[in-house]
Amino acid sequence: MKLFINGKTEVYGIFGYPVKHSKSPVFQTAAFQHLKINAVYLPFTVKPEDLERAVYGIRALSIKGVNITVPHKEEVLKYVNEVSEEVKYIGAANTIKNVDGYLKAYNTDAYGFIEGLREILAQIHNKRFLVIGAGGASRAVLYGLIKEGVQKIYLANRTLKKAHEIIQDFSNLNRFIKDIIVPVPLNDIETFLKDVDVIINTTSVGLNDKDKPLFDYDKIEKRHIVIDIIYKKTALLKKAEEKGCLWQDGLPMLLYQGAKAFEIWTGKKAPVDIMREILLK
Ligand code: ATR
Repeated sequence: MKLFINGKTEVYGIFGYPVKHSKSPVFQTAAFQHLKINAVYLPFTVKPEDLERAVYGIRALSIKGVNITVPHKEEVLKYVNEVSEEVKYIGAANTIKNVDGYLKAYNTDAYGFIEGLREILAQIHNKRFLVIGAGGASRAVLYGLIKEGVQKIYLANRTLKKAHEIIQDFSNLNRFIKDIIVPVPLNDIETFLKDVDVIINTTSVGLNDKDKPLFDYDKIEKRHIVIDIIYKKTALLKKAEEKGCLWQDGLPMLLYQGAKAFEIWTGKKAPVDIMREILLK
C-alpha cells in the first residue's frame, strides 16, 4: 500500500537505545495503513542523557504518541504528567499518549502478556504459575496474572530480595498477595515444578544460546505450559517442545502490547491479524 504524507500526517514513534531492532515501526505502520489513518510511526534513537528533552520534544513537536523501550521504561515516568494505575504497580511504562501537551503514561505489557497467554490457555485463574525473574518485565506479567485472579504464583529470582519487594509493592493490589506470591530461590525451582501448571521466563537468560540454563530443563513435564517472553525459540522452549508441552515465545506479548497501545492512541480497534501477519514475516 502506498504511504501518502501531507500536512495533516500525524506522527507516532518509539523511543529506545538502541531502537534499530524494534519490530514496532513495521507492525504499527501496517495497522495505520490498514485503517487508512494518516499517520507515520518512526524509530527514535534516544540516548539516556537525552530522555528528558526527548519527552519535552513529544509536546514541542505535537507527536501524538510514543512507545518507550529499553532502557527508558522506568526513567520516563519522571517526565510525564500522569501515570495510569498499572504503571503505579509495575513501575515502568511502554506507551505515552499526548493530548494537547498533556502526557499520560501506560503499560500495555501486562495486557499483552495475558492476551498472548489466552491463545494457548482458555482458563487462567485456576492455574498455578512459576514466574522466573523479578525485573520490570516480571512485574508486568505478575500484574496481569493477579488481575486475572490467579491464586498461586511461585516467584523465582537470583536476587530474592527483589521478589520480596514486588510482594510489598503489590500489597494494595490484592490483600492476600502474601499468600498468592511465594518467593523461591533460583536454586530451588526444581522442587516447585510438580506444583505448577505454567512456567514463565521473564529474565534475559536464553537470549544468548550459550547462557547457563535457569534450572535443569529436563525436569519439565509434558503437562507444563512453558512461556519465554524472549522473541525466539530459546533452549527452554526447545526443551518444552521436545517434551511435547504447549509453549509460546514472546511474539504474542509483543503483538498484543502493540495492539493495546494503538487502541489507546487512536480509539480504534487494532487490526491484530494484519499486525500479526507482518510480524511473522
Ligand atoms: P526487564 O525489564 O527485562 O525485566 P530487568 O529489570 O533488568 O529487565 O530484570 C532482569 C531480570 O533477569 C532479573 O530478574 C534478573 O535477576 P536479578 O534480579 O537477580 O538481577 C534476571 N537475570 C538476568 N541475568 C540473569 C542470570 N544470568 N541468571 C539469573 N537471572 C538473571
